[in-house]
Amino acid sequence: MTRWGIIGTGRIARTFAQALAGNENSVTAAVASRTLEKAEKFAEEFGFEKAYGSYEELAKDESIDIVYIATPMSAHYDDTMLCLKNGRNVLCEKSLALNSKMAEEMFALAEEKGLMLMEAMWMKFRPTFLKVKQWVDEGRIGKVQYIKADFNNFVPYDKDDRLFKADCGGGALLDLGVYPLTFVTSLLGEPEDIITHAHIGRDGVDLSHEITLVYKDGTFAATTSGFEIQNRNNAVIAGDKGSITMGDWFFCSAECTLYDLDSNAVEERVFPPEINGYEYEIREAERCLANGFKESPLVPKSGTMQVMRIMDRCREIWGMKFPQENTND
Ligand SMILES: NC(=O)c1ccc[n+]([C@@H]2O[C@H](COP(=O)([O-])OP(=O)(O)OC[C@H]3O[C@@H](n4cnc5c(N)ncnc54)[C@H](OP(=O)(O)O)[C@@H]3O)[C@@H](O)[C@H]2O)c1
Repeated sequence: MTRWGIIGTGRIARTFAQALAGNENSVTAAVASRTLEKAEKFAEEFGFEKAYGSYEELAKDESIDIVYIATPMSAHYDDTMLCLKNGRNVLCEKSLALNSKMAEEMFALAEEKGLMLMEAMWMKFRPTFLKVKQWVDEGRIGKVQYIKADFNNFVPYDKDDRLFKADCGGGALLDLGVYPLTFVTSLLGEPEDIITHAHIGRDGVDLSHEITLVYKDGTFAATTSGFEIQNRNNAVIAGDKGSITMGDWFFCSAECTLYDLDSNAVEERVFPPEINGYEYEIREAERCLANGFKESPLVPKSGTMQVMRIMDRCREIWGMKFPQENTND
């Protein structure tokens, strides 16, 4: 059994807690909030053994095997470092950090302490993504020539929502864009060049963007993300022998289809989640801990860092900096 702690009691913490509560080998051991009342309410709702009114108390709890960090992007660095310094393994929400420098420091401390640090990139643990990757790796669509992946989610402007706040690590890139970028780089690796445009809003973060990733051999990939439009967010991978599509909301879609060059469907697969889809990352983290792994082969440091570097470069092109970076540089 793996004893889990959760830091933060917001939207995704609730979804993750549901998966933990339903997963056979997981113990809902402790939850921490900046407010004790919130932690207690959360603990009661999801059956956690302990509730803490500070993140530090949870980080110091030696009975916890791994901490899931579900705070805004701007807090990931401090919360992760706090847990690692106190000897806890960490599964930290995407995007792992505000920039690649911070992410490197987080991984360096994990290595120094002999602990596991993994980005909670849940898409990559899901059976649908793994099937698509398998088809590509087996050459079922030949050489990949083009990938298109979108994640647009209409969110009405709210100056107090972390999504629009620069000091929370807001903007579409780190919140949504990280998914299509991870999808593309998982299949094609780091690009040779990046062409990108963004619409930067009044608070200094990107409200929407498009990114073209250009590869040496003529392959390219196009991604869009943003809060200003709503589309169905599917993904297409086109090769010289066929193509693959994933259903709507590709990163959490249960469906994928393989087509030949005449667009005939040759294989269709559906993988409904067993709990709510987060159980796969939970099980992989538990498998890694049980085997003494410091990283998962499914979401290794190298993959997270590739995407962090691309996001740094995009923001550099757009001229977008987080307030924390102005003082850190
Ligand atoms: N994997 C997924 O499907 C998925 C989906 C959504 C979001 N996420 C990721 O999960 C993280 C949290 O997103 P969310 O949508 O759950 O956010 P949220 O609803 O705003 O919750 C974030 C929580 O973090 C804590 N927190 C600490 N410092 C904070 C600050 N300065 N401002 C606001 N909250 C603060 C709060 O908990 P306490 O008050 O209890 O301390 C808050 O409830 C982000 O990194 C996001 O990218 C992942």
